[in-house]
Amino acid sequence: MSNTPVKRLSVPNIMAKKGKEPIVSLTAYTTPVAQLMDDDVDLILVGDSLGMVIYGLDTTLAVTTEMMIAHGQAVMRGSKKACVMVDLPFGSYQESPEQAFRTASRILQETGAAAVKLEGGEEMAETVEFLTKRNIPVCGHVGLMPQAVQMMGGFKVAGKNDAGVQKVIRDSHAIADAGAFAVVLEGVVEPVAETITQQLSIPTIGIGASPACDGQVLVCDDIFGVFQGFKPKFVKRYAQVGQTMQDAAKQYADEVRSRAFPSMEYCFQPNKK
Ligand code: KIV
Repeated sequence: MSNTPVKRLSVPNIMAKKGKEPIVSLTAYTTPVAQLMDDDVDLILVGDSLGMVIYGLDTTLAVTTEMMIAHGQAVMRGSKKACVMVDLPFGSYQESPEQAFRTASRILQETGAAAVKLEGGEEMAETVEFLTKRNIPVCGHVGLMPQAVQMMGGFKVAGKNDAGVQKVIRDSHAIADAGAFAVVLEGVVEPVAETITQQLSIPTIGIGASPACDGQVLVCDDIFGVFQGFKPKFVKRYAQVGQTMQDAAKQYADEVRSRAFPSMEYCFQPNKK
């Protein structure tokens, strides 16, 4: 076994995958989950989806910078190899490029993560440029933007009509031209995501977008089958961990009630380990 420390994937390593191999990305919010996925994923996103999947909120809007920092630190403790990026939460960056810089630099300093992600298209291009020119790697996020849920009146797929298609294309170009290292395309109708992927020189990371994207991201609690709230069309469940946990809780409850647990095996006895 080698004692050489594992080197984390960097932002340039992620960018270099475009046109070569798919970028594998998942969200993580905790140390043990980050540990479990670290060998297999390239890019871990500490997403503000944690508001919904960890804290039981209806939207991501109430997530704070402090929550993102605490979970970013937990994920960094649990990972050695993956590149880690952290979402800028709603209200922490939209006011001005300066506000975005304060939040993003604090997140990078306090978590050790490599990059931040923010939602928005043309209207956020100035902010993306401000951050990247000051050495903060930024991933954009266009199409279905969960932080715009109130304006949109729900979580709506983007690009369903011609105006929508043109908007997603303009937004992704604006973010790429502003210096983003990658862009998440969420809930975008399929041919549009493919076109954008061909047009941009930076990687596109799809979620409900297209197999043609340069990478894919999903929410870990969705693929593990832990989150019970709702299942978007683009989620494939790879496990039923929620069901396994529920079964374990029921079996534990039955055994405690019947006094089958704890048996002597689980008790400390004098002069024995
Ligand atoms: O917050 C999040 O988890 C995200 C992904 C869904 C891309 O932004």
